[in-house]
Amino acid sequence: MESMRMYDLIFAKKSGRALKPEQIAFWVKGVTDGIVPDEQSSALLMAICWRSMNTEETLALTLNMRDSGHRADLSSVPGIKVDKHSTGGVGDKTTLILGPIVAACGLKCAMFSGRGLGHTGGTVDKFAAIPGMKVELTEAEFIASLARVNFANSAPTGDFCPADRKLYALRDVTATVESIPLITASIMSKKLAGGADALVLDVKCGSGAFMSTLDDARTLAQSMVAVGKAHGMKIKALITRMDEPLGWAIGNALEVMESVEILRGQHKDSVLALESFRLSAEMLVLGGLAADLDSALLKVHGVVADGSAFDLLKRFVAMHGGDPTALDDFSRLPQAREQVEIKADRAGYVQSIDSRSLGILAMELGAGRKSKDDVLDFGVGIRVHVHVGDSITQGQTLLTLLKQPERPLPTIPDWVTLGSEKPSPVDWLLETVE
Ligand code: URA
Repeated sequence: MESMRMYDLIFAKKSGRALKPEQIAFWVKGVTDGIVPDEQSSALLMAICWRSMNTEETLALTLNMRDSGHRADLSSVPGIKVDKHSTGGVGDKTTLILGPIVAACGLKCAMFSGRGLGHTGGTVDKFAAIPGMKVELTEAEFIASLARVNFANSAPTGDFCPADRKLYALRDVTATVESIPLITASIMSKKLAGGADALVLDVKCGSGAFMSTLDDARTLAQSMVAVGKAHGMKIKALITRMDEPLGWAIGNALEVMESVEILRGQHKDSVLALESFRLSAEMLVLGGLAADLDSALLKVHGVVADGSAFDLLKRFVAMHGGDPTALDDFSRLPQAREQVEIKADRAGYVQSIDSRSLGILAMELGAGRKSKDDVLDFGVGIRVHVHVGDSITQGQTLLTLLKQPERPLPTIPDWVTLGSEKPSPVDWLLETVE
């Protein structure tokens, strides 16, 4: 170890050679201990971006990052613990829906979730919009939640993967985020440290996602599935479309409302409902609670129809100090005091919606963070009234912005493309990888 030099790792990767497992261990330990200077890590990250990493290197990077900090031990809760991870999308509130569904079906759903940054929201912020809700659970509280209501969701409170945290901060400022091995190691190290036995991945593909082409999304999905399997995880990935926001709501309290509506059986044919139900069903199959997807989907529809999934969400909220009556009476959720309608200046068919720019608009309204210490306004956001393929008339309301009067109206981006032809429909589910 002592004779190793970061210079040699950078030179090897720059020249297109694979790093040895002990070299990767040396780098990750040095990053964790704060010994490796940022400029050397940055140079290596850039070399990895250009030269990539093979499966063995990606696996070594993942495992070393996983072991750089605390690992949750959920073994005191019997049974398979299932997790879900989405690579991030605008309006993606599937966790609020599928967590209660799979838990109501009897499966343990253990999820550590993040806070939002930039144009994508974070699950933790959505739960935090429910008055009183505690979203940072100790490991003992997390385990108690899993044991009592089959569902636990928390911001990571243990010091999970400090090496990833440091490297992600460097990637963010050195334009080295978009590298498949680096994304794989970053996501999978945290998922493995979270302690679940099975994982369903929702790899987003399209204008609002990290991966804009199906080829890249597939390569990322295959890479994460390979790492999960090598580590004995039950794992499957869905590649789903993210070229319009998921559902009608962008913004924290609004997304809670929309999730509750889905759990109450509304919007059954929406992409949000179909995707949340399918992800739930995949979790039930991986967790051994259903033999196949069809029987899993029957269970999913059953717990929505009989109200037990919604009831479970209320019990989860109450258990963590939240006000469950806010889920029946939305006026108890944080509210915006002003509404601005954005109308169509001409007629046409919606060809595409730039979800990234709507995510940024929601952030400008105060629903998201520009930098990680920003304080959120849970009540503000956007109601999206149109989807790709809709026919709209001139003057029709396309968006409702929910804002606070003291905050100036942000510049409205060019977010929608209209055309004279109805675009051919594209399925929300592009592919599966297992
Ligand atoms: N999310 C992560 O946690 N890490 C990445 O590298 C990309 C998305």
